[in-house]
Amino acid sequence: MLIGSNTSGPKDPWDALHGEHADYPLRAVVGREDDCNHYTDAAQKAIYAHALPLRKDFSVLDFGCGNGRWSLWFAPRVARVVGVDLSPEMVQAAWRLASEKNVKNVGFAVFKGGAAPFSDNSFDLVNCVWVLKYIPSDAEAVRTIVELSRVTKPGGYIAIIEQVNWSGARLLENEGYFQGKAHYRKPDFYIDAFRECGMHLEYHAITNASPLFGIYSRIRRALHAQDNAPLTTTLRCVTALSVQGDLLTGRMTRFRNGHHFFLFRKDGDTGEPGRLKIPKPLSSLVRVLSPFRGA
Ligand SMILES: C[S@@+](CC[C@H](N)C(=O)[O-])C[C@H]1O[C@@H](n2cnc3c(N)ncnc32)[C@H](O)[C@@H]1O
Repeated sequence: MLIGSNTSGPKDPWDALHGEHADYPLRAVVGREDDCNHYTDAAQKAIYAHALPLRKDFSVLDFGCGNGRWSLWFAPRVARVVGVDLSPEMVQAAWRLASEKNVKNVGFAVFKGGAAPFSDNSFDLVNCVWVLKYIPSDAEAVRTIVELSRVTKPGGYIAIIEQVNWSGARLLENEGYFQGKAHYRKPDFYIDAFRECGMHLEYHAITNASPLFGIYSRIRRALHAQDNAPLTTTLRCVTALSVQGDLLTGRMTRFRNGHHFFLFRKDGDTGEPGRLKIPKPLSSLVRVLSPFRGA
C-alpha cells in the first residue's frame, strides 16, 4: 500500500541500506557493528519496557518504522500496530519479518510525506525512533511533529529517540552509516515543538550512557572468540546487566550528547485516572534478576 503524496525525504539511501543488510535487520536500521547493534537495541527496549505505560488495548503508530524493529516489539503488548515508512524496501522487509514471526496485529504502508493519512486522535501511542533527525529542515520536522501530535489521542503518548547535541544544532551533510543528511538538534527543539502541540514531557533519559558498555563489548568479543554456543546465555546476562546500568544512570546523565529518549503526553482528560505509571528507576534493579528477553 502507498499513502501520502510528497516525494521529499531521503528515500533511496534507506532502500539501499535495507538491500545491503537484508539478512541482518539490525544492521539496516541501527548500525554496522553487531556487538553495538545488539546492545543499542537491547538498551532502548529496556528503557521502553521501563518507562512506557503500555496497555493491551492500545493502538500504536510506528512512524518511520524501518524494517519493523519497534512494530514487532509493540505487537504482543498492544491491540494493533500500524507502521509507516518512506522506504518501500523497508516496508517490504517489515511485512516479511512479521509474517516469519506470525505476527497478525500489525500492518505496514509506504508513506510519502505530507499529511498523515489518519484521523485526529487515532492512536494511544505514536512511536518515532531516529526519524526526525533525517528530516534536515526544521520547518519540515515541525510539520511532522504537528502531524504526530494531531493523530495522538488526548491523554495518549509520543515516544521518540533522537540523537541530540546540547551545545547547538549540527547539520551533517553525510552521516556516514546513512549516506545522507542528518540533523542533530538541541533537546529543547523537540521539547518546545511538542509543547506547542499540546504535548508535555513526561520522561527524558539518555539511551547510551553506561560506562559498562566498554566492559560489555570486551567480554562479548572475548566470548565470541571462543565461538561456544552455550555461552549465549552468559552474553545475554552480561547485556542485561549492562543495560540495567544504563537504566540506572540514564536519567542522571541525560545532559550528555547522545541518543535521547523523550516521552510526551498529550493534554486532555481521558477519564482514566492513574493511567500513567512511570516506574521508579530503582524498580529496574528487579529486572536484573529476570531472564533477559532481548529483541
Ligand atoms: C534509522 S531508521 C529507523 C527505523 C526504525 N524507527 C527503528 O528504530 O528501527 C530511519 C527510518 O526512517 C525512515 N524515514 C526517514 N524520513 C522519513 C519520513 N519523513 N517519513 C517516514 N519515514 C522516514 C527511513 O526510511 C528509515 O527506514
